[in-house]
Amino acid sequence: MKVLLAESAGFCYGVRRAVELARDTAVKTGGCWMLGDLIHNTYVVDELKRLGVRKAASISYLKSGDTVVIRSHGESKQILEQLEGKGILLVNATCPNVRRIQVLAAQAEAEGRTPVIIGDAEHPEVAGIASWCEHPLIFSGPEEVSDPKARETPVTVVAQTTCIRELFETSWKIIKKECTNAKKFDTICTATRKRQFEAAILAAKADVMVVVGDRKSANTKHLTEICKESCSRVFQIEKADELLPDFFSGCSVAGLTAGASTPAGIIKEVYAAMSEEIKAVENNEESFEELLNQSFKTLNTGEKVTGIVTGITPTEVQVDVGAKQSAYIKFSELTDDPAAKPEDVVKVGDEIETYIVRVNDVEGYAELSKKRLDAVKVWENIEQAVEEKTVMEGTVTEENKGGIVVSVKGVRVFVPASQSGQPRGADLSAMKGQKVQLRITEVNRARRRVVGSIRSVADETRRAAQEEIWANIEVGKRYTGTVKSMTSYGVFVDIGGVDGMVHISELSWSRIKTPSEVCKVGDTMEVYVISYDPEKRKISLGVKDHNVDPWQVFMDKYAVGDEASVRVVKLMTFGAFAEVVPGVDGLIHISQIADRRIEKPEDVLSEGQIVDVKITAVDEERKKISLSIRALLAPSVEESVEAEDVEE
Ligand code: F3S
Repeated sequence: MKVLLAESAGFCYGVRRAVELARDTAVKTGGCWMLGDLIHNTYVVDELKRLGVRKAASISYLKSGDTVVIRSHGESKQILEQLEGKGILLVNATCPNVRRIQVLAAQAEAEGRTPVIIGDAEHPEVAGIASWCEHPLIFSGPEEVSDPKARETPVTVVAQTTCIRELFETSWKIIKKECTNAKKFDTICTATRKRQFEAAILAAKADVMVVVGDRKSANTKHLTEICKESCSRVFQIEKADELLPDFFSGCSVAGLTAGASTPAGIIKEVYAAMSEEIKAVENNEESFEELLNQSFKTLNTGEKVTGIVTGITPTEVQVDVGAKQSAYIKFSELTDDPAAKPEDVVKVGDEIETYIVRVNDVEGYAELSKKRLDAVKVWENIEQAVEEKTVMEGTVTEENKGGIVVSVKGVRVFVPASQSGQPRGADLSAMKGQKVQLRITEVNRARRRVVGSIRSVADETRRAAQEEIWANIEVGKRYTGTVKSMTSYGVFVDIGGVDGMVHISELSWSRIKTPSEVCKVGDTMEVYVISYDPEKRKISLGVKDHNVDPWQVFMDKYAVGDEASVRVVKLMTFGAFAEVVPGVDGLIHISQIADRRIEKPEDVLSEGQIVDVKITAVDEERKKISLSIRALLAPSVEESVEAEDVEE
């Protein structure tokens, strides 16, 4: 008789981790607790008890300061909260795959979706997952998928880690048909998937199948059911002494598999008892391996692979890539950002694209890197950007000889000074820290040399703005512009890519000799279009509002007898002209400049001086105003004497 042993029979990663954590914790603490059975295997549980891991039937057995190892199936949220509330120390051995489902279910509900769990409602893993949400639906299989609630809201479907694939897929098909906007996460554990696949293949080859595992173990029960589909004689046993000679009468090939919580020692005993032709296993391994490998992705160093994040620890991120190997990303390979924590970069349930750094088939693991793939992608993007002339964004990080360096997605791009968009000789260090748009003009990946141009984007933006202005310009249209340059006869104002000219006479209602009296380069200025010539590309602008009549402004503001502060604008022999409001001057006759006789106005006044005057007369018809400084001064002694003489 040949005995074919399933390669994956025995402890899975999650169970092994839980058992090892419990053993270590018992040694470190001098005795710890498990809440119920740590795993579904009486022999393992008994051995743990001997090592000092006591079993508490409920929380009431525990007191503050005790240490409890949480089983690989996980616990309900409420129980974890109660334990913490009681001051009990937790060593959480929940399998990362189970934890992932808890998170997915909670997230689904937070997004307004109904979590649907395909699995056994009585199983602690499923009860634990359900406890992380308020209103989950649990279906054991397709025949139960009928709850009308599932049709009311969008649903997110997950599976118990040990769910039979067929059940999950059939249930999903029904749900997808009945519910709009249904989402599925394939949460059947890779180890389970592999074990079930192997069991199905073995069962198809064997005359009799033996499945070893605890009767309480869900995954062992599922294995038995799977084997029964293709083999008529399937026996589930817990250990070797349950084997009976009758099992194997008339059979030439026997298959042996075991559940995830069956220790290697028990499998070995059963195997030895069954087999007289152990070598038969080896003979068949090759073809068996081939079949098995067909169901898993092949990982090759240097290739890209997409997977789902199943667990995050402070040092690594575990990823299910659908391969035989357990795959993980060391934190140093996750991101370039030294300040980031793993959970800032990814979360459990995320789909992640990575680069395969190393595959170790012997030990069954694969090392991945997100950082390297990100870097490769950035270079690909940059090369593509050169071809497609894409506009990219970056931050100026430094000024160096001949130009500046811009960081684009972490890649250093050199921008020569002539392409910086700044005038020749400008201080480029002022650009440090600025976000800029640029085009990549040259890339050499091997030498890690990238050259870009900000000017190319700025010129294009400017051209587009110019087209926009010329397409929509009209006489009277107002713009907010910036003074670009000044001459003695006026200023040039940039109205958004196009410069217009404001003649000095249009700058102000006041009499000015140079534009610098009213503005300077860089000032913002409200202007309007006086005229334009699209062919000569010339625009004449004004600042003075011709709808406003300065004389009317004066008349609205002042009357004869009022006082005003005026600016002396011109000195004549007979007096001084002074601006009362912009565009309206009045005359201070020489006799009204001071309270004494003066030779000429410049003896007292100078151009540009601000003086207080009294408005003594207004000739509306001729638009003339008489002003007097003297009228505001105290009468001189001479005048007072004259006044007294008159009274006498
Ligand atoms: Fe975890 Fe899968 Fe085992 S879910 S406990 S690794 S069967």
